[in-house]
Amino acid sequence: SQRYTGLIERYRDRLPVADDARLISLGEGATPLIRLHNIPRDIGFGGELYVKYEGLNPTGSFKDRGMTMAVTQAVAEGAKAIICASTGNTSAAAAAYAARAGITAFVLIPDGKIAMGKLAQAMMHGARIIQIAGNFDAGMRLVREVAEQTPVTIVNSINPYRLQGQKTAAFEIVEDLGRAPDYHCLPVGNAGNITAHWIGYSECAATHHDAVTKACSYCGGRCAYAGGGNGERPTMVGYQANGSAPFLRGSMVDEPDTVATAIRIGHPQSWDAAWVVREESGGWFDELTDEEILATQKQLAAREGVFCEPASAASLAGALRDISRGRIADGTSVVCTLTGHGLKDPDIAISQGSKIETVPATLDAVSAVIGEAV
Ligand code: F0G
Repeated sequence: SQRYTGLIERYRDRLPVADDARLISLGEGATPLIRLHNIPRDIGFGGELYVKYEGLNPTGSFKDRGMTMAVTQAVAEGAKAIICASTGNTSAAAAAYAARAGITAFVLIPDGKIAMGKLAQAMMHGARIIQIAGNFDAGMRLVREVAEQTPVTIVNSINPYRLQGQKTAAFEIVEDLGRAPDYHCLPVGNAGNITAHWIGYSECAATHHDAVTKACSYCGGRCAYAGGGNGERPTMVGYQANGSAPFLRGSMVDEPDTVATAIRIGHPQSWDAAWVVREESGGWFDELTDEEILATQKQLAAREGVFCEPASAASLAGALRDISRGRIADGTSVVCTLTGHGLKDPDIAISQGSKIETVPATLDAVSAVIGEAV
């Protein structure tokens, strides 16, 4: 067994990386695909419901998949600094990978609406943190302008290396299941990740097995893609928070708002690409209220032991609703991406989790509480 050293080495033959590139990696990727047991039983779903727990990446979100590629490429091109606008997770990843590479990260964050864990990460990794009196979309505009005048490399998902790294999540799912799932559900902000997954699934479907030898570079022959491609791809479903749902409105939203601050985005950067994903996959977009998102975040943590941040819970919240409506048919396989770890946003968790029971430091008092419960 070979030591796992990150997704670039794992998928090098499928990624645009120069042979002599210095790889900037923190061991990202290879995240668990966890089959849910309790929630499907609760709702009477007879299919297979999985969560891809991207919160277990090194900085606690899927951004690490893209950042290892973007920073490796930036370093290969001689960059001394990278820059991003961020609702928090991209800035945490940029800060960490820049630290690893020995270059500077500039991160533009919105005024106030950033989860504490994400801010703590950017600060600890030594990023130059620029808080603007504006939202993510304003930050993104500024980053584009700054990068035109100054030698800094943008590491937002408009950097094509980001999506190349993120497509590897689809490779892992196909390997784990031996085939693509019937449905893949994701939270959508800029729509970079849903686009990246579609690239990954499409590459699997087209090139999974060698057409002549039937050899498979991913699964060693376990998967269902016999015969050199034409494997199925999943139906892609993207969920937004209803206060930040340009894909539901059909046009940009100027004052996005939601408790799921990670996806508080009104001007998605991968707008056109995401509509193509919907079209090609036969999928759809839908929206959820903040209450639905938070209820599912808590349900997942309390019923399955899996803790994700609010934005991530949008994928599962949407899937559960679409299952209950029959839009996602019973008996199918469904993967929901949990994009970020629950510890990213401790304030939200503490405000809605179980309450603390304060008692005197005596055996009687503690026994009384336990005695009530068992
Ligand atoms: N979930 C989480 C936890 C995120 O941090 C993001 C995006 C998304 C979902 C949406 O992904 O933009 O590819 O559709 N966060 C970015 C950031 C905007 O700055 O961290 P998308």
